[in-house]
Amino acid sequence: MQPSSETQQRERIPVEIFPDADAAAASVAREIAALIRERDAQGRPTVLGLATGSTPVRLYRQLIRLHREEGLSFKRVVTFNLDEYHGLPPTHPESYRCFMQEQFFNHIDLPPANVHVPDGLVPRTEVFASCRAYEDAIRAAGGIDFQVLGIGRTGHIGFNEPGSTRDSRTRLVTLDALTRRDAARDFLGEANVPRYAITMGVGTILEARRIVLMAWGEAKAGVIAQAVEGVPAPQLPASLLQGHGAVRFVVDRTAAAELTRFKHPWLVGPVDWQPAVTRQAVVWLASTVKKPVLKLLDEDFSEHGMADLLTERGPAYGLNIRVFNELQHTITGWPGGKPGADDTHRPERAAPFPKRVLVFSPEPSDDILGMGGTLRRLADQGHEVTVAYLTSGNLAVPDEEALMAADLVADLAGTARDPAVGLADNVRRQLQAKPAFGQDSAEVRRFKGLIRRSEARAALRHSKLGAEHTRFLDLPFYETGRYRQFHPAEADRAAVARLLEEVRPHQIFATGNLDDPSSLAAVCWDLVRQAYRSCRAAPWAADCRGWLYRSPTRPWNPAEIDMAVPLSPTELALKIQAIYQHKSQRSQSPLADATLHEAWQQAEASNRATARAYDALGLAEYAAIEAFQRWPA
Ligand code: GLP
Repeated sequence: MQPSSETQQRERIPVEIFPDADAAAASVAREIAALIRERDAQGRPTVLGLATGSTPVRLYRQLIRLHREEGLSFKRVVTFNLDEYHGLPPTHPESYRCFMQEQFFNHIDLPPANVHVPDGLVPRTEVFASCRAYEDAIRAAGGIDFQVLGIGRTGHIGFNEPGSTRDSRTRLVTLDALTRRDAARDFLGEANVPRYAITMGVGTILEARRIVLMAWGEAKAGVIAQAVEGVPAPQLPASLLQGHGAVRFVVDRTAAAELTRFKHPWLVGPVDWQPAVTRQAVVWLASTVKKPVLKLLDEDFSEHGMADLLTERGPAYGLNIRVFNELQHTITGWPGGKPGADDTHRPERAAPFPKRVLVFSPEPSDDILGMGGTLRRLADQGHEVTVAYLTSGNLAVPDEEALMAADLVADLAGTARDPAVGLADNVRRQLQAKPAFGQDSAEVRRFKGLIRRSEARAALRHSKLGAEHTRFLDLPFYETGRYRQFHPAEADRAAVARLLEEVRPHQIFATGNLDDPSSLAAVCWDLVRQAYRSCRAAPWAADCRGWLYRSPTRPWNPAEIDMAVPLSPTELALKIQAIYQHKSQRSQSPLADATLHEAWQQAEASNRATARAYDALGLAEYAAIEAFQRWPA
């Protein structure tokens, strides 16, 4: 493959980047529609290889739209799905068969006889024969014309986990621990996630005539870059797509972020050395040669392909000082601004003081995980803080927690005439009769939501914020939705806008801007952004500044940070205590292993890593740092 520009010289698979997932999915849908129409015109069937997961949902929506609005017919289409959990019946809500029916097949004119999904119920002894028959059926249909793929965080395609070879065929596989963890939410607990699956092999996939792999959101950025730029290896099965004559990755901007052309553009071509990319380059150089910024030499720059940076902005001495100062100025113990101080070089303005601060938390606990230390500081420093919990978070409460609480309520009152006891009794009865993976009634969900409310209050008390500082919006889209299938509406936007108008904040803290667009955090982020836009003309908006915090799964690189709030060892310990209050969110899995399993561990590791990165750059040695980005930048 020839790269189409010098900045793409490291890319061994063509990557098409769209501003957002919807635009990307629409483009792939048009391509598939054109293929179906072309083959229809030739009187030939079109064989599609299909994927599940949240990624292709947008594509299926677009194809359904083309069917409804533009008469695209699937009558001559034959489909083969990549994979299925082993042990799940097709009626199970988390089975891929059920997913495909709900998300796609039920809405188009595809004849049921043309649909193929591996049989999850085939007995263990017959799996091999059944997999062979699946391959035979693909061949008998003429082979796959167009294969749709997503990618897992382990780099898997279908369920070809790390270790799958280029010549692997349709077979039974054991699921990776990370894959099962990623699926835990859908299955309402990791313990419920199947351990095995049947998947088409890498070799089977590579036989498709055209392959498009889609990915959205920053969680996928690392594996996308490795698959595209790394040496192909079974440890990252998606990288084995390199070398296929007609493969393409279609991604949104956040999933492309780790490609060299964005992450280290100076390594692949000339760069316009604006301050942001200069800072990015100097931070990268310092970490590559393992020196603090102020000790970087001219030779370090020239030996790492940055001679032009020296020519344009050098020599190293002055350049280092400029970048060092910029980084230094991101550090502040006054996240709401330091009253009465010169704020020329501070991330946040001094006036007004106190500020009205509005913190949006998608679910209870996101606030504390992302900015628990900063929340405490804002309260300590006298700001008027309101924490708005956008959703009730009830979907993430395990049944065991709800049963425990229901027992407690019932034991406490002891009289069946008390309406609270009635509720608790109903909840107990419903949970005890609940079938595996059954859905909760509105009553049970309300009860579970209340558990999260009390945890959120307890966590805020630890951060010195009383109940008067909290707002529980319980947005309707969540109450009626399921993970990956949320459909926010006008009522949700209006509720967020009303709160903005009521609080008239000087500072807004929000999160979710880099997440997969179907995730809860991203849906919430979109609502906040839209609601804020709708208020932009209001007088308070002229004096309002936005800050983005992030979930602790990937610490920011110092070059990406606009405000760094240091935490002392005691403050970090207090933050962890506050996270502990979210008891229902502790891991339910009995498999305690060495990985960072619990949310508090991830938050601690992430805040410590940011502090270490600042220290390594020669700035200051803190125990931990919470980091923020300006929004709009
Ligand atoms: C599952 C599926 C894959 C899919 C992956 C990513 O593991 N077997 O085919 O690509 O999940 O899922 P998502 O698109 O939800 O991120």
